[in-house]
Amino acid sequence: MEEIGLFEAIHSQRQFTRYKPDPVPREAIDKIIDAATRAPSGGNKQPWHFIAITDRDLIEKIGGLYRDLWLGSQGATAPPDEPPAYRSARYLANHMPEVPAMILVCADHTMGSQPYTKGEPIERGRYASSLWLAIQNLFLAARALGLGTRITTTHLREEQKVKDWLGIPDHIETVCLTPLGYPRGNFGPTERIPSADVTSYNRFGQKG
Ligand SMILES: Cc1cc2nc3c(=O)[nH]c(=O)nc-3n(C[C@H](O)[C@H](O)[C@H](O)COP(=O)(O)O)c2cc1C
Repeated sequence: MEEIGLFEAIHSQRQFTRYKPDPVPREAIDKIIDAATRAPSGGNKQPWHFIAITDRDLIEKIGGLYRDLWLGSQGATAPPDEPPAYRSARYLANHMPEVPAMILVCADHTMGSQPYTKGEPIERGRYASSLWLAIQNLFLAARALGLGTRITTTHLREEQKVKDWLGIPDHIETVCLTPLGYPRGNFGPTERIPSADVTSYNRFGQKG
């Protein structure tokens, strides 16, 4: 696996909606998840769990649920003035059942700072700040290996179905579902506000 430098990965990592059908090697999936687990976390509790989904039937089932939920909320046909971010999200929604692999990123409420009480509802979002750091690691590692990803959260509206299909116990919260595959199209550049516009030195609004 050929790898690239960190800053090149940061600058060219973008969110993909179009994937080649080629399977993602197990070695790459393991390496990406390993990078995610290197993230810092509150109290070093590492309250995460990653489910790599490579089984075609499961991908089609979860992808089909995702598609139906996304199109159900945004409409089955695109409005003429649909913003680009929604247009690409719509493409992904229509093709989610075909992605080569998925990683379901989860929070494990038995690992965190507050003990999980069996039978009580979990406090959603409690470990989000630790989880998002791991997710960004995951994205950068995927980029370094030439793999595309995207954050998606739409499945959360019917999360229990996904939990049932994957045998996920009550103390596990699903946080985001990321498709994974070799992208169609190029990495970067991304459209971002210049960093100088969102940076101050010493006093808010003071530039250098
Ligand atoms: C918290 C969060 C939730 C998101 N949920 C979805 C989603 O459900 N479906 C989707 O297609 N994209 C989703 N996105 C992806 C954003 O639309 C995407 O990051 C943004 O358009 C920037 O894309 P770029 O990095 O390619 O420029 C989500 C992003 C974030 C940070």
